Amino acid sequence: MKSLKLQKVKVGDVLGKSLFSEKGELMLAAGYELTQEMLNLLKKHGYRQVYLYDEATKDIKPLDVISDVVRATTTKRLNNSYGEVAKSLDRVHTSPLHMKHRLADDHSLRKILPVGEVNKAVSGLVEEILDNNVSLLSSLPMKSITGKTFEHAIDTAVLTVLIGQQFNYEYKELKLLGSASLLHDVGKLVFPQIGEKQEFTLSFQEKWLMREHPTYGMLILKGSDPHSYVEQTTILQHHERPDGKGFPQGIKGDNVPPLKTVEPDPTRIFRHAEILAVANAYDNYISGEMDGILYTPQAAVSELVQQAGTVYNPHVLRALTKVIQFFPAGGEVMIHSTSSGRWDGFKGFVMTANSQEYAKPVVLLMQDAHGNDIDPEEVDLREEEQVQLELII
Ligand SMILES: [Fe+2]
Repeated sequence: MKSLKLQKVKVGDVLGKSLFSEKGELMLAAGYELTQEMLNLLKKHGYRQVYLYDEATKDIKPLDVISDVVRATTTKRLNNSYGEVAKSLDRVHTSPLHMKHRLADDHSLRKILPVGEVNKAVSGLVEEILDNNVSLLSSLPMKSITGKTFEHAIDTAVLTVLIGQQFNYEYKELKLLGSASLLHDVGKLVFPQIGEKQEFTLSFQEKWLMREHPTYGMLILKGSDPHSYVEQTTILQHHERPDGKGFPQGIKGDNVPPLKTVEPDPTRIFRHAEILAVANAYDNYISGEMDGILYTPQAAVSELVQQAGTVYNPHVLRALTKVIQFFPAGGEVMIHSTSSGRWDGFKGFVMTANSQEYAKPVVLLMQDAHGNDIDPEEVDLREEEQVQLELII
């Protein structure tokens, strides 16, 4: 299986991984031979990459942290939960700022989030991650435009759980972290027209309003599940920064996970929120939500690391680097340079990722430096002293 940019996918190519709609329903099943209509559908939904199956790459099997089935079930549950909240909020005709008071005081806005459904979603997700025992994010997430809300919630939750595992979090704690991650942007439902937009396209006024979404999210959860104090705090603080320049409260943080605190301290950033902040930003970089540019996993991590200590907790960033595979199996790569110079300019796909020296995977070369197709050739880049490799996204 290989991952390919949608622009390069042709009629007759065979889909390698199933794709699901934003409601968690099967849209196209793995094994379909793509028709022009199907390609149009993928374009309409805003997919940028898809996995394809072909004879040459049939032995490449990207490892998934969660299965398609669990992803689809989680999407369905989130769609139901967010749908209920949206319906309740829609009935209230008031300005976004007044909504804060209504969410805090109005009894008709209690229990608008189906907590049982969210609990099932997070249990299913965390159990799957523990069962599969894949501790690395080693496949490229398939991102679409139409499904971005729940794809982002799920991919962020998966990443926070993987980071939590690096700090030896137990099941119960992973669930608290996963639950807050699945719900971290639920407060954006208060202003659906703005919430749907990409953050960097917002006007000054819209940005100012958006700074309230962690508070709305916290209030929605508080009204529905008053005892979920840890998750509420995590949601409220997911845009705070260690240097105190975050929002909505501007509190500081300097956690050295795995620091155990029984109760979150409301005057400092809670450690779960620092994990969520990193996972959220990473996922925004790789899906183009941060500034409109699609970042490779390596470029995204490098951006985050440059903001270590000011915007992001450095200990969490270190854990992040341990759970991201920069050149995952199935990813398309171009070799810029090697010590021998033999493969410079060649293109192919990663066969086996290298967990020791990430830039030296085993690759299946398919194209020479002039862009001509060649007989697939397996090359182990560990044999080269220096390698400059680029993941094509
Ligand atoms: Fe957010």
